[in-house]
Amino acid sequence: MKVTPKDEKLLFTWANEKLVRKWSFHNLPISRLDHNNWFRKNLKNKKLHMWKLKFNSSFCGLIRIENVRKNFKLSYQISSNFRGRGLGTKMINIAIRKLRKKIPKAVIYANSFNQNISSHKTLINSGFKVREKKGKVINYINKNN
Ligand SMILES: CC(C)(COP(=O)(O)OP(=O)(O)OC[C@H]1O[C@@H](n2cnc3c(N)ncnc32)[C@H](O)[C@@H]1OP(=O)(O)O)[C@@H](O)C(=O)NCCC(=O)NCCS
Repeated sequence: MKVTPKDEKLLFTWANEKLVRKWSFHNLPISRLDHNNWFRKNLKNKKLHMWKLKFNSSFCGLIRIENVRKNFKLSYQISSNFRGRGLGTKMINIAIRKLRKKIPKAVIYANSFNQNISSHKTLINSGFKVREKKGKVINYINKNN
């Protein structure tokens, strides 16, 4: 489901979860004001798909796919209460299926820290391959062949 203006608070809570900040490229806690600016800008961005995943009638995860010069960049998270059930893989597969319905040849990239094992496994389980390793960051690619 698409993220709507009503989701601002939910996404603020998720954005400041411990693991989410730990595995983000900007580690510091996010202030309400910064989040508000980020959220409004992102909702207006036509090149960005922001979807949330529902599980047992609760929202449990967020996925963002951004069109950057004809490539797609994916980032995602599962809320802490819902981790450990493979929902990340499920959410990524749903999102990629949706995107490829519109753009069958879409090439999708993702970045993750090399120590983020659950993200590594999630991306591999979702059909991503390691494209390159740069310092602590692994870049992944998912192509439809
Ligand atoms: C990455 C994330 C979405 C995965 O959540 P999830 O879907 O609940 O993942 P799971 O706990 O089901 O684990 C996924 C896989 O990693 C494995 N795994 C998890 N923790 C592990 C660990 N410490 N050591 C080895 N394997 C581990 C699981 O066994 C599973 O593998 P399998 O399906 O092949 O058995 C979640 O941890 C998260 O939101 N993290 C914070 C944000 C983030 O890191 N986003 C990604 C960067 S863009």
